Amino acid sequence: MEKLKIAGGYSLKGTIKVSGAKNSAVALIPATILAETPVTIEGLPNISDVGILKTLLEEIGGAVTFEDGEMVVDPTQMVSMPLPNGKVKKLRASYYLMGAMLGRFKKAVIGLPGGCHLGPRPIDQHIKGFEALGAKVTNEQGAIYLRADELHGARIYLDVVSVGATINIMLAAVKAKGKTVIENAAKEPEIIDVATLLTNMGAKIKGAGTDVIRIEGVESLNGCRHTIIPDRIEAGTFMLLGAAAGDGVLIDNVIPHHLESLTAKLREMGVPIEVGDEQIFIGKGEHLKAVDIKTLVYPGFPTDLQQPFTSLLTKAEGTSVVTDTIYSARFKHIDELRRMNANIKVEGRSAIINGPTTLQGAKVKASDLRAGAALVIAGLMAEGITEVTGLEHIDRGYSNLVEKLEGLGATIWREKMTEEEMEQQKSL
Ligand code: EPU
Repeated sequence: MEKLKIAGGYSLKGTIKVSGAKNSAVALIPATILAETPVTIEGLPNISDVGILKTLLEEIGGAVTFEDGEMVVDPTQMVSMPLPNGKVKKLRASYYLMGAMLGRFKKAVIGLPGGCHLGPRPIDQHIKGFEALGAKVTNEQGAIYLRADELHGARIYLDVVSVGATINIMLAAVKAKGKTVIENAAKEPEIIDVATLLTNMGAKIKGAGTDVIRIEGVESLNGCRHTIIPDRIEAGTFMLLGAAAGDGVLIDNVIPHHLESLTAKLREMGVPIEVGDEQIFIGKGEHLKAVDIKTLVYPGFPTDLQQPFTSLLTKAEGTSVVTDTIYSARFKHIDELRRMNANIKVEGRSAIINGPTTLQGAKVKASDLRAGAALVIAGLMAEGITEVTGLEHIDRGYSNLVEKLEGLGATIWREKMTEEEMEQQKSL
């Protein structure tokens, strides 16, 4: 096991490149199951979630190669092997195997998904969708069993706007007989990316990116080549660290439209920003003003950026309130930021930050992926050395983070944890 060490307080400068989107990757890879010939996906990030999905596809008989961000999946020999637990539990997005395997084989057995602990994360809307398409869904000892004689199109209204349910229902519906309509669908860019791949495979999908998606089922899908979209959450994390600890940071490979809610908030704080076609430049963040943020579904402020944003707000003058309307308990980073001298309290679904404070290096633990990003930003801002443990969370979603930050001049490195430190971790 390793920990991350950061010597903070230095200005970061230069260009940092964004990788392919994690939350697209974890859906695009299972989508390949639906094809009858090989699918190539370009630009995948080098993260552990991608590695785990690769092995899961291999477990069901897929022939998969992955080199320099390019994955080629030959799905011809795949079978509907039960995937009850084990690796499935390591990532939330293993739920996309349900939609994809149901769509291709009309049956699947998948362990209940894992992922970050952010409060309750039910999958009732996914199941409601599968059932509407004609599947029988049961939960047997922690695994979901899905079976259907035939899948048929249906009109499905989502009671909760859900990224996962929208994509999963698309995956199951593209080969169903007849027409499916998903109403109150989520509109995140990752949904458009998955719909683009499926369309290039031969699916008939209209309206992805709006709240009504219409799908006309087709008999078969074929392989194709697809380039993934850039990761808007990774880009947003870099924008935040540029504002928090930078002196001119250029973020490359961005779709600026995906980040408008963040750009607007940073400007409101007084951060100088220049937006290009595929790049965003963040100037030095000085005399920043406190702001309030409330997370919302896309195109609102993303919940995945509220934790890293909180670290930046410790530097702002005044009181900021961060409210998460998507996840009730996405505040595990707050105690760690307090260890670093931040003045923050949590009240219900909000964190209240009083600033400015100068953060101090400390030993802290990442409880989840974006908490990890928040602590890395805090470490870069802080005086002295910060040690971040719980790196397995950061590695799930940030591709080559240490190397990328070194490219901006950060003093950051990975170090092996001692036996004693590992024991301490277990008892925390
Ligand atoms: N919800 C339900 N029932 C469902 C599904 C969702 O009540 O059947 C609720 C959730 O509990 C949550 C809200 O609806 O309160 C939104 O959940 P959603 O389904 O949209 O989330 P998700 O698909 O499980 C994806 C991302 C998350 C991101 C959310 C929100 C992936 C693999 N994960 O999760 O990303 O926070 O959308 O945008 O795409 C991350 O990258 O750090 C991360 C957690």
